[in-house]
Amino acid sequence: MDISEYREKLISLAIEARKNAYAPYSGYCVGAALLCADGSIYTGCNVENASYGATNCAERTAVFKAVSEGHRSFKAIAIAGGKRTEDMSEATDFAYPCGVCRQVLREFCVPSDMTVIVCKSVSDYRETTLEELLPSSFGPDNLA
Ligand code: THU
Repeated sequence: MDISEYREKLISLAIEARKNAYAPYSGYCVGAALLCADGSIYTGCNVENASYGATNCAERTAVFKAVSEGHRSFKAIAIAGGKRTEDMSEATDFAYPCGVCRQVLREFCVPSDMTVIVCKSVSDYRETTLEELLPSSFGPDNLA
């Protein structure tokens, strides 16, 4: 799968999803767009909670949406994050996924073949792999 064909779309969708972030406590808004092996894309945003601990990250929202619709193989994710600002057309940070989200992504991919794009805009992004972000990982194969 040639990720470069999807990059712009994924970034635009992550920035769009970020606008729906429910982040009244931290003010930190995150959007994600997850590319499935069949080319379908699922988006997500962070959803905070008054209990704080029940908060769900944008990446996991996207993964859970995709899995609940029958998808179990992912190839790329774009993430857009930063404090809420007046103009939400661009993100302000290169927001790398938290440790829990890295592990959740690990469940449904080959880490070396999973592209992670952190982006501020379609022309301002950084790209890496899940293998780099979560080396020597524990996954489904360990339990096979
Ligand atoms: N957050 C995400 O959505 N993704 C991450 O990978 C890191 C953190 C959210 C959770 C919380 O709502 C806010 O950012 C501040 O931690």
